Formats: sequence, structure tokens, C-alpha cells
Amino acid sequence: MIKLFNTKEEAEKQLPLFSLRKFKAEGSDFSMVRTNSGIHVFGDSCPHEGCSLALGDVVGDSIVCPWHQFHFDLKSGKCTDNICGDLKLYDVLEKEDGLFISY
Ligand code: FES
Repeated sequence: MIKLFNTKEEAEKQLPLFSLRKFKAEGSDFSMVRTNSGIHVFGDSCPHEGCSLALGDVVGDSIVCPWHQFHFDLKSGKCTDNICGDLKLYDVLEKEDGLFISY
């Protein structure tokens, strides 16, 4: 388990809506964003050619890769352009002692 925040309130303060944040944990790079549907955590490396998705843009519940502008759905991980593989998503678990992803 990787702890993201101590509380949901802390997450809302530290992670403004639609701003991307990259972080490293357990030797891997992740990115996260908070949208109107919640906090989404995913592998930072684009499934197409590996660009850092933390440099991308968030449009609604999609992230747009900065290199080739492919779109990925943050709820399903699907490349909605149907050109490459899916984004690896991590479910955010809310527990008594914080918000986590299982990894
Ligand atoms: S590297 Fe992300 S779309 Fe090509």
C-alpha cells in the first residue's frame, strides 16, 4: 500500500482540481489528478511511447499526452483514440488513516 494523503480534506487542499502531480514510490513513477469524479492515480509513463503524463493536459475525465495528443479515460484507462494500450490505473482506497493505493 502507498499512502497518498492523511485525509480526504488534506487531499483537496494539496491537490487543486485538474492539476497534475507526479510522484515516485516503491521505485515507480505515478501521476495523480483530482477531477470532479475524484482522485485518479495512474502510471506516469504513457502507454504509447513513454512520455511523462504529468506534463499532459486534463480535459474533464481524460488526460491528453503531450507528445502525440492521445487521450486516455481516467475512469477506465482506455486510450479513447484506440491507437495504443491502456493506461494503468490504481484505485484510491479511503481508510480511517488516510487515502492509499494498493501497489
Ligand atoms: S507518447 Fe503519449 S501519445 Fe505518444
